[in-house]
Amino acid sequence: MSRKLIYTGKAKDIYISSEDEDMIVSVYKDQATMLNGARKETVAGKGALNNQISSLIFEKLNAAGIQTHFIKQLSKNEQLNKKVTIIPLEVVLRNVAAGSFSKRFGIEEGIELERPILEFYYKNDDLDDPFINDEHVLFLDIADTDEIAYLKKETRRINNLLKKWFEQIGLTLIDFKLEFGKDADGRIILADEFSPDNCRLWDAQGHHMDKDVFRRDLGSLTDVYETVLERLQKLT
Ligand code: TMP
Repeated sequence: MSRKLIYTGKAKDIYISSEDEDMIVSVYKDQATMLNGARKETVAGKGALNNQISSLIFEKLNAAGIQTHFIKQLSKNEQLNKKVTIIPLEVVLRNVAAGSFSKRFGIEEGIELERPILEFYYKNDDLDDPFINDEHVLFLDIADTDEIAYLKKETRRINNLLKKWFEQIGLTLIDFKLEFGKDADGRIILADEFSPDNCRLWDAQGHHMDKDVFRRDLGSLTDVYETVLERLQKLT
């Protein structure tokens, strides 16, 4: 069946569903990138692992009452999602200092943040996704005050659920990035994916169980993602 490609991203290609114009098919690719695509490698099996991990997590979020774009997993690399207009914000939530936060503020990685810290980045490849605040979000007409408040509240609610689930499988959720979109009725719902590509997970020994394995050349990315998936599958 022919279907129309509407977006090709670093980790996924997006098609309009041939059955319903309000739905998209997200195809997870075997590609790992960093530095806004400056480093790009084929990693066999990564797409299927991330599709399975993200499907499992979004199913659990849906069941917990979070409004998301996830409908169902279609195949190893494909899932069916509601079509949304993506809000051009990367919403980052940090439970523990790491990555750019540690670098920016000179704080050692691994220090727990008493109150999780939420950050906005403007999703714009040409500008390298700059760090922005609420006033920039208003100025750039990305979201209004109520929408900003909703995004923050929903992200913290999602964090509480995810933190608990990962804790149950021996992993600490250090930080993560979410993207939201507006559906056909203008409702803001969680979109994109949740996988070790866009979060940091440390095991009890402090091993990196996420894309930092690729970013920092720490070993086999797919071995680590496989472990995360196997543990998640044991969650009840
Ligand atoms: P950072 O420490 O590099 O700012 O990343 C914070 C979290 O956000 C980390 O879990 C990785 C994720 N992230 C993305 O998913 N996409 C991005 O483009 C960036 C910069 C971070």
